Amino acid sequence: MPDFALNQDTELLRLIATDDPQEAEALFAAARQQREIYYGQQVYFRGLVEFTNYCKNDCYYCGIRCSNNQVKRYRLSLEQILESCRVGDMLGFKTFVLQGGEDPWFTDQRIIEMVEAIRKEYPDHAITLSIGERNRESYEAFFQAGANRYLLRHETANEAHYQKMHPASMSLTERKQCLYTLKDIGYQVGAGFMVGTPFQTPENLLEDLRFLQTLEPHMVGIGPFIPQADTPFGDYPGGTLELTLKMIALTRLLLPKALIPATTALGTISPLGREKGLMAGANVVMPNLSPKEVRKLYALYDNKICTGDEAAECRFCMEGRIRNFGFVPNMSRGDVAGWDRSA
Ligand code: 5AD
Ligand code: FES
Repeated sequence: MPDFALNQDTELLRLIATDDPQEAEALFAAARQQREIYYGQQVYFRGLVEFTNYCKNDCYYCGIRCSNNQVKRYRLSLEQILESCRVGDMLGFKTFVLQGGEDPWFTDQRIIEMVEAIRKEYPDHAITLSIGERNRESYEAFFQAGANRYLLRHETANEAHYQKMHPASMSLTERKQCLYTLKDIGYQVGAGFMVGTPFQTPENLLEDLRFLQTLEPHMVGIGPFIPQADTPFGDYPGGTLELTLKMIALTRLLLPKALIPATTALGTISPLGREKGLMAGANVVMPNLSPKEVRKLYALYDNKICTGDEAAECRFCMEGRIRNFGFVPNMSRGDVAGWDRSA
């Protein structure tokens, strides 16, 4: 097994830039070996509920940005959200991920109500929120209400690059601060970035990795940028499978304990993308539990897979796909290695 000198920026940059497939394969093999130390062949399942596609933000890459008037907007009712969780629970999920745009209708009070209702029905499930930037008091209140985890991708760790992807009202400093606050409160925290966004350089990706080493998040979401036609970035090329896989592998090598999803975006750019993600060191999949009627409306990018399938179809499809590659589906909560629930 080759040793990679990942503490050296030059070596990391070289690996990010290499197009040598043999070298990439060596990286994937090393990443798999790291993953096995803490997680063996286990692949953890999370049930994703996309509960609102309203968003007050206007990120240049995202299909549900507020300026996109081609989107049919929806919000699930509390009852619909609970019903999605019930379907998930019946399918064996022990983790629900509640994701949405930054929707002002979902005030702190309404989020608290949602979390409390889910917590009441499912005292032992993990509840993950992914609803963007809020202030410390809000994050604390959601935690008190029973949320355990929070996903908030940093998108890019480079300030200048961040500004090229977002309107002036958004700031990377603010976003990073949210991540540190969430960690401080006691959430298991997920950061992450897109690969191949417009204007991204290898140096930016290096910065993403170094930022992750500093933050030490428990989860890292990495997916290719995929253009959405009705956005300012609609005509830019998307991120490649090869580079995304390398970034997953490097993240695994630098953060051996991290929970890293093989993302839907990865499965969208290549038929076996998610499987290849697992082979590059990922260890989580997030099948969709949202009601079938709204699936297509949560279109962050074009050609998203699994939008026509029932929750049960995705659940069992993923199980089969995982087993085909020698992995073991794991339906438990899947806390990060070493996490003490009683602490
Ligand atoms: N392509 C790929 N991923 C995207 N996201 C948003 N828009 C796109 C796109 N066009 C990702 C962002 C966000 C996550 C929920 O989806 O990284 O944090
Ligand atoms: Fe959704 Fe295969 S995972 S249909």
